[in-house]
Amino acid sequence: MVRKSFYITTPIYYPSDKLHIGHAYTTVAADTIARYKRLKGFDTRFLTGSDEHGQKIQRTAKERGMEPKEYVDRIVAGFKELWKALEVSYDDFIRTTEDRHKEVVQEIFVNLYEQGDIYKSEYEGWYCTPCETFWTERQAEGKVCPDCGRPVELVKEESYFFKMSKYADRLLKHIEDNPAFIQPVSRRNEMVNFIKQGLEDLCVSRTTFDWGIKVPFDSKHVIYVWIDALTNYYSALTGGQPDNSLVNKYWPADVHLMAKDIVRFHTIIWPIILMASGIELPKKVVAHGWLLLEGGKMSKSKGNVIDPLVLIDKYGVNAIRYYLLRELPFGADGYYSEEALVQRINSDLANDLGNLVSRSVAMVEKYFAGAVQSPDEYDDIDRDLIKTAGAVVEEYEQLMETYELSNALVAVWRFISRANKYIDETFPWLLAKDENKRARLGTVLYNLMESIRVITIMVAPFMPTLPPRIWEQTGLKNAADDVKTWESLQEWGRFPSGAAVSKGAALFPRIDVEKVLSEEAESTAVLKQEAGEQEAGEQEADKQEEYVSFEDFAKIDLRLAEVLRAERVEKTDKLLKLEVALGDRQRTIVAGIAKHYSPEELIGKKILIVANLKPAKLRGILSEGMILAASEGDSLGIVTVDPDKEIPSGSKAK
Ligand code: ME8
Ligand code: MG
Repeated sequence: MVRKSFYITTPIYYPSDKLHIGHAYTTVAADTIARYKRLKGFDTRFLTGSDEHGQKIQRTAKERGMEPKEYVDRIVAGFKELWKALEVSYDDFIRTTEDRHKEVVQEIFVNLYEQGDIYKSEYEGWYCTPCETFWTERQAEGKVCPDCGRPVELVKEESYFFKMSKYADRLLKHIEDNPAFIQPVSRRNEMVNFIKQGLEDLCVSRTTFDWGIKVPFDSKHVIYVWIDALTNYYSALTGGQPDNSLVNKYWPADVHLMAKDIVRFHTIIWPIILMASGIELPKKVVAHGWLLLEGGKMSKSKGNVIDPLVLIDKYGVNAIRYYLLRELPFGADGYYSEEALVQRINSDLANDLGNLVSRSVAMVEKYFAGAVQSPDEYDDIDRDLIKTAGAVVEEYEQLMETYELSNALVAVWRFISRANKYIDETFPWLLAKDENKRARLGTVLYNLMESIRVITIMVAPFMPTLPPRIWEQTGLKNAADDVKTWESLQEWGRFPSGAAVSKGAALFPRIDVEKVLSEEAESTAVLKQEAGEQEAGEQEADKQEEYVSFEDFAKIDLRLAEVLRAERVEKTDKLLKLEVALGDRQRTIVAGIAKHYSPEELIGKKILIVANLKPAKLRGILSEGMILAASEGDSLGIVTVDPDKEIPSGSKAK
C-alpha cells in the first residue's frame, strides 16, 4: 500500500538579521504538525529555508561592509542553529542562492515570457524595501507603505511585467470553489475583496541592483524577489533532482503556513504563477496571528525582539515550544511575556503534568516495589476516566487536523486534570492501608500509568524530547514501539503490566517567579492588592446600612465552584492558590485563607465565588475571582453549599 503523503512548508525567512520568537512560533507550529502527521503514518516532508536575495539584504550587507553572500552565510548558519536548538525536524532546508533553486526560477520565468504572460515595459511607482513590495501612487498615500508604514521610494526603471490581471477571474473562482484554500476565513474574505478591487500587472524585475537571480535572456535585470522566493516551495522538490519522484510524491503542497502579513503573496501571486505555468495549486494556505509584545509588534528597528536561544537556555526547549503553541490561539494574535511563560511552566507543566507523573510513579514504587500491576475489574470511576481519554483523543485528532494546536493542548490538559482528579477520587493512600484492597490499588495505579502513556503520545509532537524522559520513569523506555504509536491510543489498556517504574528528576522544576520578575513590579502588584483590600474593609466599617437594588446585586456573578487542587503560594503564609471548576471551565483563584485551611482540606469542596470580579495579580499569579468566607476576629470559614444536594459546579447562586 502506498502511504499517504503530507507536505508542509514555513515561509523562507529573510536573513537580514537574527530570527526572533515570532519566526520561532511559525516554525515550531509547522514542526508540530509535521511530527503529528508522521505519528499518524503519513509520508511527511517538512520544508523550511531562507530568502536571501533582494535590495534589503544587499543594503544590509553593505552597511556591515560585507559581500551579500558572505553576510547571509553567517546569518543562515544561525537559523540552522536555532532550529536545532528548537528540535525542528525539517527534511529539507532551501536557500534561494542555491543553483537547484535558481534553475527552476529561471525556467518558470522564461516559460511565462515565451507564452506572453511576461512582457517588457517601464515601471514607475513606489517601492517598500523592507517588505520588498511595489505600490501604486494611490496605495502608497503619504509616501508610506500601507503594510508596514515605513517610507517608500520612487522607482522608475525599465521592467518586465507579469499579466496577473489575466488570471484574476480564474483565481477568484478557485478561491470560491475551494473554501478551505485560505484559512482562517477572515483572511479569505480579505483576499477576495482585494482581488475584486482588480489586479494590476505585477512588476517582476529590477535593474537598479544586482543581488538576485538574473533574467536569463536580459542580464541587466534580476527577477523580483517575491517571484524568486515563492518558487522555493516547488524548486525544493524539482531543482537538481535526478527524477520526478519528490514532486510526484509531495506536490501539491498540503499546507503553506505563515503569519497573516504575507498571505497576499501566497494567495494571489503564487497561485497565479502556478496557474499560468500549468502547475497544480497548493491545497491550503494557513495564516496564524501575530505574537505581540506589550509595546506593539516585535521589530528589529524597535529593538524589542526576544531571542529564543536565551529563553531555551533558561527554561528548556519543551517549555518554550509548549508556551508558544499554547499561548497563541490559532489565527488570532497573542501577547508574549516572560511572566506568562513562567506561569505556564509552573501551572501546566510542573503542577498538572509533572505532578501527575511524579505522584503516580512514586505510588507504584511505594506500594508495589515499582512494578506496575495488571488491572483487575474496572468500576464507574475508572470507566469515566477511560471515557474521557477516548473523547479527548478524538477531539485532539480533530483539532490537530485543522491545525488548532492551542485547543488541542487544552483538550490534552483536560485529560491531565481528569487524571489528577482520579487520584483524589480513588484515595490510593487509603486503599494502601487495607490488605483486602490490594487488587483495587493495583488497578488504580495501572490506570494512572496508562493515562500517562496516552498523554505522552499526544504531547510528543509539541514537546519532542519529553517522551523519552517520561518513558524512562514509567518503565517504557525499552518497551515495544507499538505501545507508543498513534494506533495504540485507540484502545485502553496497552500499557504493559510488569513494567518497572523508576522515579527520576522532576520533569519541569518549578520556577521561582520572583526571581524572574523584577522585585519591584512584583511587590507593587501585591501592595496594591493588599491596599485595596484594606481600603475596602475600612469603607465597609463606616458605611451605614444601605440598600442595593436588585439590578446592582444581579451584576455580581456568584457561582458554585468545586475545588480541584489547592496549594500554598510560595513565600507567603497567607495565600493559597486554588484551581476550581465552574462546570467544564477552570479557574485559578488566590485566596488569603492559608492560616485557616490546609490545601488538602479544600479539595473536593464546593464553595461560592464571585466569578466576575476583575482579575488581579497576587504574587505573580493571576487570580480570577474571589471566594466567599465569613470571618469574625481570628476565625474564618468559607461559604459552602448544602452537601446533601447535588448542585453541579458552575451553577449560579442567587
Ligand atoms: O516575509 N508573530 O520573511 P520574514 C508571528 N522572506 N509570526 C511572525 C512574527 C511575529 N511577531 N514575526 C515574524 C518574509 N513571523 C519573506 C517570506 S516566503 C516565500 C518569503 C513569521 O523574515 C511569520 O511566519 O519577514 C511571518 O509570516 C514570517 O515570519 C515573515 O518572515
Ligand atoms: Mg517581514
